[in-house]
Formats: sequence, C-alpha cells, structure tokens
Amino acid sequence: MSSTLFRTKKVEQSIQDTEEPEHALKKSLSALDLTVFGVGVIIGTGIFVLTGKVAKENAGPAVSLAFVAAGIACGLAALCYAEFASTVPVAGSAYTFSYASLGELPAWIIGWDLVLEFALGTAVVAVGWSGYVRSLLDNAGWHLPDYLSGREGATGFGFDILAAALVLVLTVILVIGVKLSARVTTVVVAIKVTVVMIVIIAGAFFISGDNYKPFVPKAEHVAAGSGVKSPLVQLMFGWAPTNFGVLGIFTAASVVFFAFIGFDVVATAAEETKNPQRDMPRGILGSLLICTTLYVAVSIVVTGMQKYTRLSIDAPLADAFKATGHPWYAGVISFGAAVGLTTVCMILLLGQTRVFFAMSRDGLLPRFFSRVHPRFRTPHRPTILLGVIIAIVAGFTSLSELAELVNIGTLFAFVVVAIGVIILRHTRPDLHRAFRTPLVPLVPILSVLASLWLMLNLPAETWIRFAVWMVIGFVVYFLYGRSHSRLGREQAAAAGRTPTPSGGDIE
Ligand code: ALA
Repeated sequence: MSSTLFRTKKVEQSIQDTEEPEHALKKSLSALDLTVFGVGVIIGTGIFVLTGKVAKENAGPAVSLAFVAAGIACGLAALCYAEFASTVPVAGSAYTFSYASLGELPAWIIGWDLVLEFALGTAVVAVGWSGYVRSLLDNAGWHLPDYLSGREGATGFGFDILAAALVLVLTVILVIGVKLSARVTTVVVAIKVTVVMIVIIAGAFFISGDNYKPFVPKAEHVAAGSGVKSPLVQLMFGWAPTNFGVLGIFTAASVVFFAFIGFDVVATAAEETKNPQRDMPRGILGSLLICTTLYVAVSIVVTGMQKYTRLSIDAPLADAFKATGHPWYAGVISFGAAVGLTTVCMILLLGQTRVFFAMSRDGLLPRFFSRVHPRFRTPHRPTILLGVIIAIVAGFTSLSELAELVNIGTLFAFVVVAIGVIILRHTRPDLHRAFRTPLVPLVPILSVLASLWLMLNLPAETWIRFAVWMVIGFVVYFLYGRSHSRLGREQAAAAGRTPTPSGGDIE
C-alpha cells in the first residue's frame, strides 16, 4: 500500500503529458511577462492593508524588520522553487514538483493545500479591493447600501456585491485566454508600482524621526483568555502571550508574509512559458527581489510619517498622507490600490485553476476538468467552477483570519518544495537543471526551518482550521483520487500480462 501512496510520476512523463494536444496549454509567456506577472500578484493587500495593522498591533516601526524576516524566508523558498520550476516546467507548481519527487500522496496533499491557498487568497484580495472601491465611490458621493457591502445590514444579511462581481469578471477574462490577461496585467502593474513609488518618494519628505522612537516597542502582555488566538509557539512553550518586542516582530512577519505570496504562483505558469528553463528562475527571483525592496522602503516611510499607534488599519498608506495634510496623494494612492488589487486577484485565480487542472489531468480529480477549451485553449471548466465558488465566498466573508489560513497553507507548500529539492537531487541526479539551488542541502534545510518558524508564529486556531481542511483532503483522496489516479492505472496495466502503451489516455 505504501508503495502506491508514494508512487512518483516521472519528470519526463509530466512533460510529455503537456504535449498531448487536447490537454496542452498555449506557450506564450517570456521572462519579462513572468516578472510582471509576479509583481502583479505579489504587491497587494499585504503592503496596502496589513502593514498598518501589524505595525499598530504587533511590531511598531520594526514592521520593516518583519518584512525583512518574511522576505528572507521567501528568498530561501524561491531558490528551491526556481530549481523545481526550471526542472519540471509543467502546470501545477508545488503539486507537480512533489509528484515528481515525493510521491502521489504528498503531491495530493500539497495540491489540495494550494487550492485552499489560492481560493481563499483570491477571496481575501477581492474583499480588500471592494473596500478601496467603496472608499472611492464614497468620495464621489455614491454610497452602496450596507447589505451590498458585505456588512451586516438591518436584516442581518450582507453580501459584498463588488467583491463577487470582480471575481466573476476576472473569471471570464481568464477563460478567454492568458495572453489577454497578461496584457491587462502589464498596464495595471505599471499603475501599481507607480503608486508605491509615490508613497516612497513623496512620503520620504514627511518623515519625522520622533515617530521611530521606540523602533522596537517593549513587549506588552496580552489580556488573558486569548487562548487559541495566540501564536502556537507561545502556547507550546508556555510563554505568556505578548505583543511587540522581538517576538512581536515574528508575529508580524507571519502575517505580512501574505504580502509575498505570489512568487510561487509564477511557477504555476511554467507550462505556458516559451523557455521555462531559462525564464522561470529569472521571473521568480526577479519579482521577489523587486517586491522585497519596495516593501521595506514603504514600511520605513509610512511608520516614519505617522506614529505607529495612530496608523489606520483599513488604508494605512493613504491615511498617512491624509494625516500629514495631503489628501490629494491619498486619493491617488487609493485609486492605485484599487486598480492594483485587480491583478492580484486575477493571478491568484489563474494559479488556482492551473493547480486544479493539473490534478485533474492526473486523474486525482475528475478528468472532465482538464479538457482545454477548443478555441481559447484554456482550462475553462475548472476556471468557471472555481470562479463561481470563490465569488460566493468573497461575497460572504471578511478577511483577516482567512489571510492567516492562506499563509499557513503557503508556508506548508514551501516546506514540501524544499524537501523535494533534496530528494530529487538524490533520486534523479541526471535531470537537466537550468537553475540549481545553491548549497544543497543547506539552503533547502534553512528554507524548511524558516517556513516552520513562521508557521509556529501563527495563531493556534489557524492550525486547527488548516488541519480540518487537510483531513477533508485525505478523505477525498482515499475515496476518489487514489483509485482514479492515471499514474496508478498505468502502472497497474504495465504490471499486468498485456501492458498498454505508456502515455495512453485512460479515462
Ligand atoms: N501578495 C499578495 C497580496 O499582498 C497576495 O495581496
């Protein structure tokens, strides 16, 4: 039994599958497209919204150090992702990588985990987007009723109509084709980066040195009874729950980690890349480097403009400009944020449908979902199904706890990928690797430790929710995926008396 749970899909088989005409995606992306794609999804709710919340509640001006800590963890993971993505250039990201190295069950677990990450991530960003758009509409004198804003109205019913509408529109764009969405992305990313640069350059003139004192606020005890809301690491070691201080920086890092999510999504587009061996590592590492630099600069500027205790939680970047008497900048920043969050949402949705597509192509989810559209050559079925589900989730939920759940799922994927790099080096040393992770196994081991440390700094309740989702995943795998696995059927046929040609399409 254990041999079937850990059966691995040959890397060559993964690549060959992508060449079957009815399951093939169009190869149209370059290194530049990938970098733009990366920056398009990385800069979003994390920097535009979460910066204020964690500075105010967990880290003070040292939030910039939290960005550095999260950036280091992501950099280590990126070095591992880049090796995998350039070796196994097939849709599905960490899912595909682990199928080729760790085996089917770990691959299923990671795929299931990535579906959670991207689906909830899309919903979180759509709700954040809707907040900015409502704020712009309010400025123009148009007010949406509360029951259409996701807030509980008088009747107790609330549906965030803007968030849901955004997800549905993006679903249509993705069905039409990746080239169109890449073009749209380029324009939007330019607007977003411009706005971030405005924050850094204009904001630098309004910094007051006093706001940095103290840079690392003293640790404060949190009122007793917070229980499962405390970071797991504090409960595990019986430490009294605190905010601020050195531990506060790590709590903040585990939350602002959300701001970095996205570079791993670049890897999900490997199959649609013209020259993945060369372009994937460039796209992943390039976009991560650009974003980390911008985040650290933005967080230093914003905490210098306004005392951390007074930062706003909803729109900290714009409100810091209002607080220094510059509402015009605030309007421009709100507009840029609203536009910028659109691409984040779109690319998370894209990554999510591609993972689902890859799992379906392998038979672990119904094969119905992996037939590409005859004209657009996009996986329209999972795109439509998931788009509708996410639109409903985005309509009915609010964000902060969901963001933490997204983080734990992503960090877990990083752990699996880093372990996968080490294993694949041993099991398939012969494979051509256009990009090699330096200092193996040191860098992957450090990546595992850094990701685990951030996971431990997330609240205990996030761990519980994550465990529930994973248990559901196990049930689905054992009831459906295991017996429908294409690889399993092929291996069974090959072991029988009349072997079938390999690569045969088994429905
Ligand atoms: N990194 C993306 C954001 O911050 C998901 O919104």
